Amino acid sequence: MTQERRRHGGSEQRSPPSSRRPAPPAPRRNIVSNSVVLVVISSCLVGLSAFWFSYVKWSQAMRPLTLHPSPRILPPSSSSPAVSPSLFWGSYRPQVYFGMKTRSPRSVVTGLMWISQSGTPSLRHTCEQSDGLARYGWLMHDGVNFGVQEIKDKGYTLHTEFVKRPGGQHGGDWSWRISGSPEDPSSPGRLVSLLFYVATDGQGSLTPHMDGRGHLSHVTGTSEELGGFTLRFPKPEGGDGNISYNHLVTVCHGLHHITDVVRSSMSNRFTHLSSGSGNKQRYFGLDTYRPPPQPGSDHSQLVIHQVTMYLPFQIEMLFESDSFLQRPVSLSGRALTTELEKHRRNMAEHFQKTFQLEEKGFIPEQVAFSQAALSNMLGGMGYFYGSSLIQSQHNPEPVAYPPSPLYTAVPSRSFFPRGFLWDEGFHLLLIARWNPTLAWQSLSHWLDLMNADGWIPREQILGPESRSKVPAEFVIQWDENANPPTLFLALRQLLESKDAGVEGLRFLRLAFPRLQTWYNWFNETQNGPLPYTYRWRGRDKDTVRFLNPKTLTSGLDDYPRASHPSDDERHVDLRCWMALASEVMADICKLLGEDGSRYKESQMALSDNSLLDQLHWAEKLGAYADYGNHTQRVVLERERPRAVTGQNSQTVSPPGLIRVVRKPPKLQFVRALGYVSLFPFLLQILSPNSPRLGHLLEDLRDADKLWTPYGIRSLSKSSSLYMQRNTEHDLPYWRGPIWINMNYLVLRALHKYGQIEGPHQNRAASLYRELRVNLVANLYRQYKETGYLWEQYNDQTGRGQGCFPFTGWSSLVVLVMAEEY
Ligand SMILES: *[C@@H]1O[C@H](CO)[C@@H](O)[C@H](O)[C@H]1NC(C)=O
Ligand SMILES: *[C@@H]1O[C@H](CO)[C@@H](O)[C@H](O)[C@H]1NC(C)=O
Ligand SMILES: *[C@@H]1O[C@H](CO)[C@@H](O)[C@H](O)[C@H]1NC(C)=O
Repeated sequence: MTQERRRHGGSEQRSPPSSRRPAPPAPRRNIVSNSVVLVVISSCLVGLSAFWFSYVKWSQAMRPLTLHPSPRILPPSSSSPAVSPSLFWGSYRPQVYFGMKTRSPRSVVTGLMWISQSGTPSLRHTCEQSDGLARYGWLMHDGVNFGVQEIKDKGYTLHTEFVKRPGGQHGGDWSWRISGSPEDPSSPGRLVSLLFYVATDGQGSLTPHMDGRGHLSHVTGTSEELGGFTLRFPKPEGGDGNISYNHLVTVCHGLHHITDVVRSSMSNRFTHLSSGSGNKQRYFGLDTYRPPPQPGSDHSQLVIHQVTMYLPFQIEMLFESDSFLQRPVSLSGRALTTELEKHRRNMAEHFQKTFQLEEKGFIPEQVAFSQAALSNMLGGMGYFYGSSLIQSQHNPEPVAYPPSPLYTAVPSRSFFPRGFLWDEGFHLLLIARWNPTLAWQSLSHWLDLMNADGWIPREQILGPESRSKVPAEFVIQWDENANPPTLFLALRQLLESKDAGVEGLRFLRLAFPRLQTWYNWFNETQNGPLPYTYRWRGRDKDTVRFLNPKTLTSGLDDYPRASHPSDDERHVDLRCWMALASEVMADICKLLGEDGSRYKESQMALSDNSLLDQLHWAEKLGAYADYGNHTQRVVLERERPRAVTGQNSQTVSPPGLIRVVRKPPKLQFVRALGYVSLFPFLLQILSPNSPRLGHLLEDLRDADKLWTPYGIRSLSKSSSLYMQRNTEHDLPYWRGPIWINMNYLVLRALHKYGQIEGPHQNRAASLYRELRVNLVANLYRQYKETGYLWEQYNDQTGRGQGCFPFTGWSSLVVLVMAEEY
């Protein structure tokens, strides 16, 4: 819960109504000088102005909900099987252990659940940290054709594999293979049920077919985009020949209820598995489910096929498109093995060619680790459709943003299985190296979410399935809140790559109006009190409970900023992001032959080192810093129990921690050394000759400040808020732990400064080598020990912590190993 709170920023309050939003058009009145007419029409005017007033209110309320007027970069048909057949089907449901859907608003979905019938049976379906799996994740996944996943449950392992085969007009066929094996091959077989399901999402239909013994033999179906199709269940292998079948055909009200439907259809009933020997074994089997009556026809049809057998086993499920007429053989058995082998080989080859890890001295196990990290980034890509809930100054109640599709990677399949704006910029740095087409697609989807003002909602909670994972109070997005424009990082990398040519130019022509509006939105709504200064809006206003009010919009949630939020603040990280954005925009103008002098000017001003020093160099701290109304002397103290008079009784409220200010704040630099101080270096705004650079490198290497044997910590040990809780429930988040996205930027900057001539070149180069070795060694060690990549790493022990698996930006370790910056 506390983590939820961090990223969502639902508890934020709106910034004061100082927004630089264009003012609504003022009513124009031409008052006729003829007094008689004036009298006659005066009553009309009253009515008119009332009308005008409500019109203005209405248009102000509609404004944030109005999408950007320029044509979408990706028209709705672009995801269709006709235009993009190879990406139509995919593992686009990262929130479940194994499932597939199409890139359609209301896709037919397929998925897997399983349940071990020994011990206390527990159903596995959506990725949950509380399931306590020793590990799960993609070992290989190329983002397009196939995937191989390993899931280690308690006492046994499942491999879930899929492979697609193009053919016909509706995205082709695919097959699944699930192999189960006991951890200890000599132990007696464990009874496991696999449950394969297929569900419609308010569109399309399914028809189950039975064989002579009353078992489900196959399912046929149709949907708008899939046409006709058949799902087959070939005879399983293994299981000692003792196989039991059950099925359920029902409806449910939305995909997010599938787990509950299965659970409640099984809980009431024990059935008996008749084994060949006459022994009987009890197990949970699907029985019946009576859907609660619900008005409206918006329901999912659901068919579930349950297979119960002893380990080890191997079971397949086949999806065949009716439009695929020249199918050589079914994609099953040997044919499936061959196809999987082919894709494995291709991926290994492409991986080798792209990243060349063997040449860089990595052993096969490390290469496999790296390949898994990439595969989890790609296998974590999802396709979502729905509306964000937003609020604005003119919409005091939450309102629905226009429904939109989003094809994106996600930070974490268990904890954050949805799109986050600034995470995606980092994700795309890796995805673009592997398959630029996927990166262009995601980038386009994100920019197409922009509204007419240039705002993109920061966290994308689209559709009921996504929304069911997020507590209601955290769902709402405020239209004044930004998030770092990391998409510019990704865009620059994409444009610099050798083969960007045609795809890049086509994209830029379509995207240009949006990029301009996006840039302007930042430049006009997040500007600071002085020229060329910037300030994150939407900081927490609660100065009583929080040791330091959070700045979720910056992405660095609880990183210490000015103790007393005010309009006087200026944030050095945002200023550096704007320098980057200006530079990329200027480059784009050049590529398109547009006038980019405005951006060039801004870039020059924002990268002017003496202006930077003047605005952000804190001499006493010896580092770059934010500026604002600030005091160092704040502490959390336990308040005295207070009597609270309720309606009928008097209770004593439990004493909580409240903030006590020991010394009044004043306008000054914020004394915190950490990731924010590094930004002029991270985004390479600092001149290689700057004496500040030498200073910064010393702090970076100082173990009493930022250096650890596992990576660069987020906040210096010497800072007063180092590892301090923000409230009694909020663990330190960006106040010490090591984050991989920032370490990637540190390495990238060291690599760069290590190559340009200057007084600090050698120092940068040697720090680069040392940090790279540390970071890779620790992530690899943690992965081997714990089975996962993590959200962050402990700066004292290197242990992975926070949520897991976190194969969003922590997967940038691939680029670090490959030295791709
Ligand atoms: C499975 O069935 C075979 C015969 O078909 C029988 O010999 C064996 O004991 C059964 N195994 C279990 C665990 O019931
Ligand atoms: C950004 O805003 C500043 C201050 O309003 C303005 O001077 C500058 O021209 C703007 N930059 C661009 C590229 O529009
Ligand atoms: C700083 O914050 C304090 C406490 O809220 C306030 O009284 C003071 O006026 C602020 N100072 C400035 C310069 O804004």
